[in-house]
Amino acid sequence: MEKYIEEILYSEADIKREVKRIGKEITRDYKGKTPILVGLLKGSVPFMAELIKYIKTDVQIDFMKVSSYCGAHSSGSVRIVSDTTTSLKDRDVVIVEDIVDTGLTLSEVIKLIKAKGAASIAICTLCDKPEARLYPAADPKYIGFNIPDKFIVGFGLDYNELYRNLPYIGVLKKEVYSD
Ligand code: PRP
Repeated sequence: MEKYIEEILYSEADIKREVKRIGKEITRDYKGKTPILVGLLKGSVPFMAELIKYIKTDVQIDFMKVSSYCGAHSSGSVRIVSDTTTSLKDRDVVIVEDIVDTGLTLSEVIKLIKAKGAASIAICTLCDKPEARLYPAADPKYIGFNIPDKFIVGFGLDYNELYRNLPYIGVLKKEVYSD
């Protein structure tokens, strides 16, 4: 284990198992349709890459970049940095996230995607922190792990842009972000 990790919460095998399950759920729910998965950059990248392997129906992907965090705490504002290149009008959209925390980011992204005329919108997240939720509109339909209210990193999740490359999800040692 890396020296900055206090505890491994979910191993590579745990992640693969849950992502596979979500892939099956999406396959079942979108049978005969062609959903578009919209990943929110950058944290969703490893999850998106793993997830599409297990979706056995026609599917498209695209990405958006929004920004809401500075360091370990929410800054309370969301900035759209880059938009999808595919039209979302009349599309079945599945927003793919690494983590839903307060739900601020997603509640803003949902508004934007609704305004683009999407036929349906569902949220798919690798990690959910329901205890931290302030915006219930962001409640996910597809969830990998319900996580405790701790600062986690790995498999896309960062602290100051680091640790996204860890193949597992772990709890960051407090001394890393408290100084
Ligand atoms: C993180 C995460 C979610 C959001 C969750 O994104 O990927 O998008 O914060 O927090 P919320 O539910 O309180 O809004 P961040 O802005 O750090 O971008 P990143 O994906 O590039 O890490």
